[in-house]
Amino acid sequence: MAPVKKPVHGGDVYAASRELSCPLSTLIDFSASINPLGPSPKVWRAITEAHHLLPHYPDPASWDLRQALAARWHCVPEQVLVGNGSMELIYAFPQALKIHHLVLVQPTFSEYAASMARAGGRVTSVCADRDEQYALPIDRLFRLLERPPKGARTIDAILLCNPNSPTGQACGADDVMRLARAAQRRGVWLIVDETFADYCPERSILPLASAFSRVVVLRSLTKFYGLPGLRVGYAVAAPTVVQLLRRELPPWSVNAMGQVAALAALHDTAHAKKSLQFVLKERARMAKELAGLPGCALFPAHANFLFMELPHGWHGGKLTEQLRREGLLIRDCSSVPGANRRSIRIAVRSRENNDRLLKSLSRVLSESRS
Ligand SMILES: Cc1ncc(COP(=O)(O)O)c(C=O)c1O
Repeated sequence: MAPVKKPVHGGDVYAASRELSCPLSTLIDFSASINPLGPSPKVWRAITEAHHLLPHYPDPASWDLRQALAARWHCVPEQVLVGNGSMELIYAFPQALKIHHLVLVQPTFSEYAASMARAGGRVTSVCADRDEQYALPIDRLFRLLERPPKGARTIDAILLCNPNSPTGQACGADDVMRLARAAQRRGVWLIVDETFADYCPERSILPLASAFSRVVVLRSLTKFYGLPGLRVGYAVAAPTVVQLLRRELPPWSVNAMGQVAALAALHDTAHAKKSLQFVLKERARMAKELAGLPGCALFPAHANFLFMELPHGWHGGKLTEQLRREGLLIRDCSSVPGANRRSIRIAVRSRENNDRLLKSLSRVLSESRS
């Protein structure tokens, strides 16, 4: 078997700091899309007050956190599984749910295909159309389910990232529910990655999904709650599915501080509201500015990042490199399957940081024209 290429991700500020010989604090990271307001101040307090937990193993059941999540999504704690980031759960899916053939939409998050490759499974890609602004092709997924191609291996699962990364496109909850019903009828798993759904809660199927025995919804505390360093994600599914997934996780995979911080973050609804309002406003401002850069194309955004194409003749990798030298990290998407070489992704950050990026970006692009 050909060696599996390791997915490239944003957010590696450590490598950038070593490479540029500069402290982490001088870098501005637009490559991982994390809440620009940072975690709730209540998280800091909760972690400090929880220092007495350090000499103990963490609660292997993440009991308090699961209670809180179940209350939030109107289900029972048996329907919630917490993992070491949603990434841990992505890697548990193929084995736990016996997925040998996964269908996904490209461009999308690279780890779904990587986890299938690691499990020795197969992936079929349905490409979102650039001319349709990378809208999620729900109807094509639906048709594939209803009429699988003759001779093709049975489809075990569909993975839909909604909103999708890196494109930022999202479909409505009605469409996802239609797909969920079709998947349920066919005995096919539907995994919906809602890592960025906090930015468009009306598109989430979460309160409804727990009624389906074939649907798994994935969430994360990384992005919206600003806790990437603590690694907390979770899945909501039928209790039997949660049991299957749990078997694949190592014991104590979620550390004590992660559990405490996640709980405090979920309870701070005022910070959540403020974060959402801030990002939506700043995203609109950024989008307007970026769309005004000559030759750049911007795509509809439903998360806390913007997906765009540079002018013809540019390469995402070249711009990323140039900005990196100034301590500005963006996500080069030129090698993401289904995206073109001019594609980049930029997270929405503070107004001040965003202005700095806009200034550098327009300077670099105009220098190349002159
Ligand atoms: C779409 C998507 N899903 C899942 C993850 C994994 O997130 P985490 O493991 O931090 O919860 C990421 C991280 O970048 C992502 O972009």
